[in-house]
Amino acid sequence: MEKIKSILTEEINKKGYISISKFMEISLTDPEEGYYINQKPLGKSGDFITAPDITQIFGEVIGAWAIDIINKINSKSSFQIIDLGGGRGTLLNDIKRVRSDNSISFGFLEINKKLMIAQKQIFPEAKHYKSISDIPDAPTIFIGNEFLDVFPIKQYIKINKAWKEVFVTKDNDRFLYCYKDIEDKILFEENKKNFPNEADFFEVNTKIKKIVKDISNFLKRNNGICLFIDYGYFKGYGNTLQAIKNHEYVDPLSFPGASDLTSHINFSQILNESKNFEMDFFGPISQRNFLINLGALERLEILKKSTNSEKIKSDLDVGLLRVIENSQMGELFKVCAISPKNKLIPEGFD
Ligand SMILES: C[S@@+](CC[C@H](N)C(=O)[O-])C[C@H]1O[C@@H](n2cnc3c(N)ncnc32)[C@H](O)[C@@H]1O
Repeated sequence: MEKIKSILTEEINKKGYISISKFMEISLTDPEEGYYINQKPLGKSGDFITAPDITQIFGEVIGAWAIDIINKINSKSSFQIIDLGGGRGTLLNDIKRVRSDNSISFGFLEINKKLMIAQKQIFPEAKHYKSISDIPDAPTIFIGNEFLDVFPIKQYIKINKAWKEVFVTKDNDRFLYCYKDIEDKILFEENKKNFPNEADFFEVNTKIKKIVKDISNFLKRNNGICLFIDYGYFKGYGNTLQAIKNHEYVDPLSFPGASDLTSHINFSQILNESKNFEMDFFGPISQRNFLINLGALERLEILKKSTNSEKIKSDLDVGLLRVIENSQMGELFKVCAISPKNKLIPEGFD
């Protein structure tokens, strides 16, 4: 990761510091050494494991949810299901199992070369897209599980009653935080109003606005829905920047390019942007309640009845518990959906 460190150092040398968002952008998406371009982040041998790889029930109930949406919209045109940041392809493959006829096509939006190979292996027929503008027009269900958390954030801190932006500087060989005047005042003001007066630190995900805009325009043209599942909060504020390497939390500035740098999603930012683009917003609801509302426990019983193996039964229990227990992923992970106004009421959000 020496190249990333020297790119960061060069950028910092220009004026003494760079924004957190620039630090994240270079570390995650540098065309040669960026974490999301180059590393194999997911799975037991990667840096972290996600819900679809913990239990098949996750993808299966989301697949049933998607089929219900397709039936509700009842379009003459064929649907496509697009997995935003498809990881190892497990989620889309589990969804496909729920209804594998030819009337639905599947695609991944992905930039990671190693993950694209894994996705092609598990799901050879699925198409690959690099941006939302590449995706062909058709009624669409977008699913983004742990997708939004990968994008760069800006951070703001109140020091002696004055708001400052958090930047990254360098001292000898170490990257360090520093606090300076705010770079993009419009972005700051637009977002500050969404936080309570007592807030002394807040974050703005720099890509949510564009992603919600692009998806909203796409869905208004074509019909459909977008489901986002991620760790995060609806009300609240604070520093949530985190880095994970080999399944352990590490200092976010210490391993640029070699650790997964993410932040918690502020679901009220998705709500506000979806209002700006005149979309209906559903949720947020905890992952636990969403999956249970969609029949995850019933699905567990059916799968357990289909095997005599006590080991498989126990693995099924453990996997589902991990994604729905409040002390594990059940409460921290939340779910929301956006769709064009007054077209649809998706299941699972009551
Ligand atoms: C945290 S992983 C989640 C993977 C998968 N959804 C899952 O649940 O296992 C984030 C995914 O987003 C992809 N990704 C990161 N930046 C992206 C971008 N700018 N456009 C599309 N995909 C991106 C990563 O390569 C990875 O597949």
